Amino acid sequence: MFLGAWSGYAHSMSASPRLPEPRGPLSSALFARLGGGSGALPAPGPDAEPLSGDDLHLALHCSYELAYRGFAGVDDRYEWDLELLRFRQGLEDAFERALRAEGPNRPAGGERLDPRVELTRLATEPAGPSLSTWVAERADRVQLQELLIHRSAYQRKEADPHSWGLPRLDGPAKSAFVEIQTDEYGDGRPGQAHADLFGVTMADFGLDPAYGAYTDGLPGSTLATGNLISLFGLHRRLLPCLIGHLALFEMTSVGPMGRYVQAIRRLGGSSDAQRFYAVHVEADVRHAEIARDRLVGGYVDEHPEHAGEVGFGARALRAVEGRFAGHLLRAWEAGRSSLRPAALAGAV
Ligand SMILES: [Fe+2]
Ligand SMILES: [Fe+2]
Repeated sequence: MFLGAWSGYAHSMSASPRLPEPRGPLSSALFARLGGGSGALPAPGPDAEPLSGDDLHLALHCSYELAYRGFAGVDDRYEWDLELLRFRQGLEDAFERALRAEGPNRPAGGERLDPRVELTRLATEPAGPSLSTWVAERADRVQLQELLIHRSAYQRKEADPHSWGLPRLDGPAKSAFVEIQTDEYGDGRPGQAHADLFGVTMADFGLDPAYGAYTDGLPGSTLATGNLISLFGLHRRLLPCLIGHLALFEMTSVGPMGRYVQAIRRLGGSSDAQRFYAVHVEADVRHAEIARDRLVGGYVDEHPEHAGEVGFGARALRAVEGRFAGHLLRAWEAGRSSLRPAALAGAV
């Protein structure tokens, strides 16, 4: 067994979170293996719901986390365990196949459409009911806390999943990517990375900003938003999808971020708590232009054959975010919590 010779080695950084509770056969098998078990891990079954299933997306999230911060008490060498990589590939294949089969908003121009044109269209057409408008106008303090918890899975490592793309790029597209990421990491100033500013917002609203503190409360539709970026980031063949994802991300940020500033102000959050959202309102006007014109433009000028994949990355972001928003709005409209029950008793 790959890890047998290293069973005494269990390095774990203080920042590593604990493993969450399993939710079904996939996450149970994964956690058993991470605890030292042996044997083959299962493939997703027909009821795994690859777009938003709780068990599949928790298993995929935790498989990816081995490449970010790992887990307390789990040997870091599992990151490259061949059986775990085979297992992760099965989850990724199911997720990617389902995303491609969805095909919503596919442009009439097909794969030949200039992705800059498609991105502009996607950024300006409403994707469905607006989560940020609902939060700005109607959310109470508990619902805002819930939103922060949902977003913490990505925002506490904001920019990291996209950064996998950097060593895979060169030329003008790489320079544009670096320029965006430099801002995301607070221009190298300690405590100023957007991930750090999000931690300040969480603490201001009485939440635990520790990395991975709320994973047990996050439904599959939330975990899928982060899994999508890791999927695109960790596979070089999906680099154009990553670029399309980042570009649409930046191009659709300013309006919602401004509405979240309004919500925090209305609910009595401090200016420190508003800062995470306020810096995006300011920075993302510029990031949107850099992303569309120089990142996407530079990339498709060099690789016109990948234009369709850039568009797919953007459409996949929109579809995954649509499911995420739909889950929150349905729960709130019905007067329910949008978080998974039980696991979070007393968290908010
Ligand atoms: Fe950011
Ligand atoms: Fe940005």
